[in-house]
Amino acid sequence: MAFDIDMIKGVYASMGERIEKARELVGRPLTLSEKILYSHLWEGTPSKQFSRGKDYVDFAPDRVACQDATAQMALLQFMHAGKPKVAVPTTVHCDHLIQAKVDAKTDLKRANETSNEVFDFLESVSNKYGIGFWKPGAGIIHQVVLENYAFPGGMMIGTDSHTVNAGGLGMVAIGVGGADAVDVMAGMAWELKFPKLIGVKLTGKLSGWTAPKDVILKVADILTAKGGTGAIIEYFGEGAISMSCTGKGTICNMGAEVGATTSTFGYDESMDRYLRATDRVDVADAALEVKEHLTADEEVYANPEEYFDQLIEINLDTLEPHLNGPFTPDLSTPISKMSEVAKKNDWPLNVEVGLIGSCTNSSYEDISRAASLAKQVSDKNLKTKSKFTITPGSEQVRYTIDRDGFIDTFNSIGATVFANACGPCIGMWDRYGDKAANGPRNTIVHSFNRNFAKRADGNPNTLAFVGSPELVTAIAIAGRLDFNPVTDKLINEDGEEVMLDEPRGYELPPEGFAVEDAGFIAPSEDGSGVQVAVSPTSERLQLLEPFVPITTESLQGVKLLIKAFGKCTTDHISMAGPWLRYRGHLDNIANNTLIGAVNAFNKQTNFVKNQLTGEYGAVPDAQRAYKKEGIKTIVIGDHNYGEGSSREHAAMQPRHLGVAAVLVKSFARIHETNLKKQGMLGLTFANENDYDLIQEDDTFNFIDIADFAPGKQLTLEIVHADGSTDTIMANHTYNQSQIDWFNEGSALNVIKKENA
Ligand code: F3S
Repeated sequence: MAFDIDMIKGVYASMGERIEKARELVGRPLTLSEKILYSHLWEGTPSKQFSRGKDYVDFAPDRVACQDATAQMALLQFMHAGKPKVAVPTTVHCDHLIQAKVDAKTDLKRANETSNEVFDFLESVSNKYGIGFWKPGAGIIHQVVLENYAFPGGMMIGTDSHTVNAGGLGMVAIGVGGADAVDVMAGMAWELKFPKLIGVKLTGKLSGWTAPKDVILKVADILTAKGGTGAIIEYFGEGAISMSCTGKGTICNMGAEVGATTSTFGYDESMDRYLRATDRVDVADAALEVKEHLTADEEVYANPEEYFDQLIEINLDTLEPHLNGPFTPDLSTPISKMSEVAKKNDWPLNVEVGLIGSCTNSSYEDISRAASLAKQVSDKNLKTKSKFTITPGSEQVRYTIDRDGFIDTFNSIGATVFANACGPCIGMWDRYGDKAANGPRNTIVHSFNRNFAKRADGNPNTLAFVGSPELVTAIAIAGRLDFNPVTDKLINEDGEEVMLDEPRGYELPPEGFAVEDAGFIAPSEDGSGVQVAVSPTSERLQLLEPFVPITTESLQGVKLLIKAFGKCTTDHISMAGPWLRYRGHLDNIANNTLIGAVNAFNKQTNFVKNQLTGEYGAVPDAQRAYKKEGIKTIVIGDHNYGEGSSREHAAMQPRHLGVAAVLVKSFARIHETNLKKQGMLGLTFANENDYDLIQEDDTFNFIDIADFAPGKQLTLEIVHADGSTDTIMANHTYNQSQIDWFNEGSALNVIKKENA
């Protein structure tokens, strides 16, 4: 499906020399993660050693993947880069905007009606700029990537946190914000702090009721939801080798739930089998030739404590099936303890729905093992107690499991098969209509990855537990959260006691994968004539105008928009929830700008003084009033301003509305970079106490902005309402290229100029 074998061979051709050089520089054997990182440096062959957890490094990823919700703004920006085509292979996947309600066919039809303008836009931009387009119903981004694009030893970025799923095929695959994706699509370097390394040694072998999912549920228990932050988790050992490639994908997928930068596995035969089964013999052959580069040096796994920052060991022989939850994926309970723990916590034991599938767990192996349990319902004259749903990860998987009779088996227990899309995993499950916010307290079990409050059905009172597809199916059959299929019996329709046999399945389809229409649309060879259609009256999409540079003159008489108090994350600056609908329309989504930030003067949110009228009101309203008068504004912030997601909207929206500068005690680094990319001033107080000098009616003059230079502080005169003044110094971290971004109005304007 248009995977680029020449690109992959090119990566492999230079890997040996780069790894050799890195080994020499580092002075010791290398882990797999280090091999992939050092062989993907922007500079090419490494020239120095990097410090883990400290150095920021420029990388050159091999691929980019975007999902439909995040791709909108990324592509709108890319259109400004002035490039005829993307610089690296890129794909767009329509999966997040499809609501699960009735069944696959009905739901897909409705999504195509309600979101057609977004899908049409994404398709036409993809066609124009050489981007592979996966239409609605083709599947979920990460399953489609694993089936078609992931390759051992590669590096990719994707605009979705579960991009890490591709680690199952031995990649370093990382979730990023749209702005990072735009950089790489436009041919620029991508920056990342060189990660720390966590090794997970898997001994023993999975058997019986235990599945790969239980490995990551156990890792989440050990590391907790933040324990992997800033690190790559590298799995190895006999347990890793004995596992399927798609099982490895499940484990890597949920690395996002422990905050890990990504997770990966060394190349082994399971990857070779998967590549060949998914029609990529060329890639399998190419990988086989360089296999020593696609796993760690032998010495590393023999003495892992010397090479990893942290080491975890899990014995698969004794690992039990787990259920994690509710409300957080790291609250782990072995199934044998669930009866006791659930009673103690007063969790409702009656399970209303069991849901399997999603990007995390919808491999042929997962589905065939779950189907082996569903089949026992009729064989043993049982009755399924809970509702049961399946969201296949791709059309290829759906078609193949249909051909092999598994969908019929699931139908026989009354299952609903939803579209090949995110659906219930991302709150796109219309379970309660408009009554979700006050839904009843109830329990569901699913094989997805996240189980935060409201994540599946919008009901804050739904307790969601995460388990393997096998365990979810068994629990749905039993209808009870505390059902332990390893030891517990069920009563069948004849009143007899029966036990479920252990799940059995196939790693790969014995008859091979099949599909009629995978849902891929290749871009035009020459897209120059393709028109990108965006209706001027659309409320969801808006073509971007290049930002006009902020001039020296406009930085005199700058008004205070808001002095934010305490935590101000990207969610406070650009809220999600219902605003997601406007992710592709900058002016509309700008109506949520800073509405979550707390005003330091009255401790209220979205209630600031408009200095022009003296009246108080919403932040976006005050800002639009200043904009109308051509007055630039400044935002003042506390520590770690802009923490949270890498969402570029948090910088683009203030920029669009006329905010010129953000002056804070300290920044979350990605947000600081995003401000720079959008041609704004991101500054920090040279003296933190100066934050206290800022008053509600202040006006700012950037006295020496004309001399803006790397390493040179800026002087700000603050004029208070009574006419008194204070002069303060501001630090910045702009290098010369970033000052060029400021001078030209944005990083994209600079790229465009270079391409003109
Ligand atoms: Fe979609 Fe859920 Fe995966 S939202 S990309 S199925 S994590």
